[in-house]
Amino acid sequence: MSARTVLASLAVSLLFLSISAAPNSTFENPILPGFYPDPSCIFLKDWDNTFFCASSSFNAFPGIPIHTSKDLRNWKLIGNVLNRPEQLPQLAITNGSTSGIWAPTIRYHDETFYLITTLVQDKKPDDDPTRWDNIIFKSKNPYDPLSWSNAVHFEHVGYDPSLFWHQDGKVYVTGAHAWKVGPGIVQTTINLDTGALDSPWTFIWNGTGGLAPEGPRIYLKDGYYYLMVAEGGTGLDHMETIARSKDIDGPYEPCPFNPILTNANTTSLFQTVGHAELFQDASNNWWGVALSTRSGPSYLNYPMGRETVLAPVTWKAGEWPVWTQISGKMSGWPMPQQNRNIRGIGPYVDDGDNIQFTPGSGIPSHFLYWRLPIESSYKVSPAQHPNTLRLKPSRLNLTALDGNFAGAEGQTFIGRRQSHSLFTYSVNMEFQPKLEEEEAGVSFFLTQNHHADLGVVLLPSSSNNSSLVPHLRFRAVSYVPVPATVLVPVPSAWLNKKLTMEIKAVNVTHYSMSAGLANARNGEKMTIAYAPGEILSWGFTGTLLGVFATTNGGKVTDSSAPAYFSNWLYTDLMQIRA
Ligand SMILES: *[C@@H]1O[C@H](CO)[C@@H](O)[C@H](O)[C@H]1NC(C)=O
Ligand SMILES: *[C@@H]1O[C@H](CO)[C@@H](O)[C@H](O)[C@H]1NC(C)=O
Ligand SMILES: *[C@@H]1O[C@H](CO)[C@@H](O)[C@H](O)[C@H]1NC(C)=O
Ligand SMILES: *[C@@H]1O[C@H](CO)[C@@H](O)[C@H](O)[C@H]1NC(C)=O
Ligand SMILES: *[C@@H]1O[C@H](CO)[C@@H](O)[C@H](O)[C@H]1NC(C)=O
Ligand SMILES: *[C@@H]1O[C@H](CO)[C@@H](O)[C@H](O)[C@H]1NC(C)=O
Ligand SMILES: *[C@@H]1O[C@H](CO)[C@@H](O)[C@H](O)[C@H]1NC(C)=O
Ligand SMILES: *[C@@H]1O[C@H](CO)[C@@H](O)[C@H](O)[C@H]1NC(C)=O
Repeated sequence: MSARTVLASLAVSLLFLSISAAPNSTFENPILPGFYPDPSCIFLKDWDNTFFCASSSFNAFPGIPIHTSKDLRNWKLIGNVLNRPEQLPQLAITNGSTSGIWAPTIRYHDETFYLITTLVQDKKPDDDPTRWDNIIFKSKNPYDPLSWSNAVHFEHVGYDPSLFWHQDGKVYVTGAHAWKVGPGIVQTTINLDTGALDSPWTFIWNGTGGLAPEGPRIYLKDGYYYLMVAEGGTGLDHMETIARSKDIDGPYEPCPFNPILTNANTTSLFQTVGHAELFQDASNNWWGVALSTRSGPSYLNYPMGRETVLAPVTWKAGEWPVWTQISGKMSGWPMPQQNRNIRGIGPYVDDGDNIQFTPGSGIPSHFLYWRLPIESSYKVSPAQHPNTLRLKPSRLNLTALDGNFAGAEGQTFIGRRQSHSLFTYSVNMEFQPKLEEEEAGVSFFLTQNHHADLGVVLLPSSSNNSSLVPHLRFRAVSYVPVPATVLVPVPSAWLNKKLTMEIKAVNVTHYSMSAGLANARNGEKMTIAYAPGEILSWGFTGTLLGVFATTNGGKVTDSSAPAYFSNWLYTDLMQIRA
């Protein structure tokens, strides 16, 4: 072959390649909108070319949702790792709104799924070992949530553990040391069946000097162990940095262009980018996920909290991974064809709700309680009240006790995540309170000290205080100023009738809370209050929308008034991505 024919045939094959290769993809962030922080994702060819992602859940139960996708755009809930109280009974008694399940890491080895994480008691001192309950769950088949084991506990005065299987047969566990007592990334080896550690933890890298080096993950590539970590804290200074070593124990050499990922000091809507994970798809292209907050740099209004975002990553042999900056509209490696017909018991992450609580149905898998529920307080389609969800009141309301504690008696509340910037959520309610301060209604809820409620509550009449009458009551609590409490008697035409209670994000900054007669011909509702999203923009979690029932401190008895909820609707109005 002459040089010219070689060149010509090369040109033809290049042309062929450029024609046959799938074009680059375009996609939108966030991929998991709403309260889905601290993502950990893997891709498994052995499991029908499926991506699996786990998220943090703090005090919410069921906890640690697992979403899967075949195309990186359509994500479906297949179940929650923590779905039975006996797996981790201590979740019932967490104290603090930033307590509960922190960052999980999901891994797959020898046909077993491993989920390693920490149950944090965030009100205890940093160096108190009982603050950090580090745990491992195992499953052979996460499509069957009941297959997840009970927690195996191991010792670690710290959080954010992850796993790495070394060629030497040992399993390495890498974590973030409690940062006030020597911030840094620590490592040892572990027996995954017993939780026994082979040796004391040792520091392997302390990051580049940012606050709270955490979320460590180790990847072996081209003869190097890459150690990727988050630094800067999970707020505006959040960033991802990386170091590498030929030896898993170090010393680790930092990347010369750290941070490799951050939106700090940008004007993007997407802030706090960090706490990342890397994985490859079926074509061996690299992708990364991270958490991000749609707050803009003003960082005042972000009620959905920390969400999961995706980016293509270029990682050449022997070099450092190069991320694409996070925004709402992205492009990158070719993606598999859209597939919205995949396995799993739960909804797609951006689905709305139209839930009728039909006889024989259960509590939907994407519904959440605040800590472990008192099971008997929640009943789908009880006798005489088919197609409703019955709530029995708790003595404690949604604020409950100081310090964000509630204790094992629980708070009667069930909700779903807010997963769109603008939405309408409504539910019908039948409720006949008999005692003063018996109350039921709807709430948008972040933590016990950040929520806004619209309830029907029995209170003395303003004109005759020896007569108790149902009132509509709006009240809110937050660390920032909240709108004044609103109290209006339930209109006489509505008494003993089924009502509709509605929460709506009317614009980027405000929610409305309204009530009306259910099935009113014109759908007319009375708006009782507007509340800014700023009152729920705090901490580590994201807004839940749901229903509650309480006696506000009154003794709970068998005759305490239950509330019956029906026609649970959640409708997406808009996702704001820029
Ligand atoms: C990291 O910090 C810890 C605690 O301050 C210190 O003991 C350790 O030597 C440091 N390790 C490395 C690898 O820099
Ligand atoms: C953001 O800017 C500040 C001030 O210039 C700087 O100190 C900080 O390192 C920057 N953060 C990141 C993650 O680049
Ligand atoms: C396709 O996406 C990859 C990953 O982001 C990028 O490196 C490459 O430049 C893109 N190619 C084109 C033609 O845009
Ligand atoms: C919860 O933590 C607070 C400190 O914020 C403490 O005052 C309170 O006693 C704790 N409550 C329980 C039940 O541990
Ligand atoms: C009840 O109303 C009467 C008459 O308006 C008033 O004198 C009395 O103080 C009220 N009692 C309470 C407990 O508010
Ligand atoms: C106030 O309410 C009580 C209880 O419903 C009723 O017995 C009484 O007549 C009412 N008084 C007035 C002045 O309406
Ligand atoms: C959003 O709606 C609230 C309530 O009607 C209003 O006070 C506020 O000005 C609106 N904000 C924007 C940005 O339109
Ligand atoms: C919650 O209940 C307590 C009584 O247990 C009550 O003092 C408080 O006002 C209630 N607050 C809210 C916001 O629900």
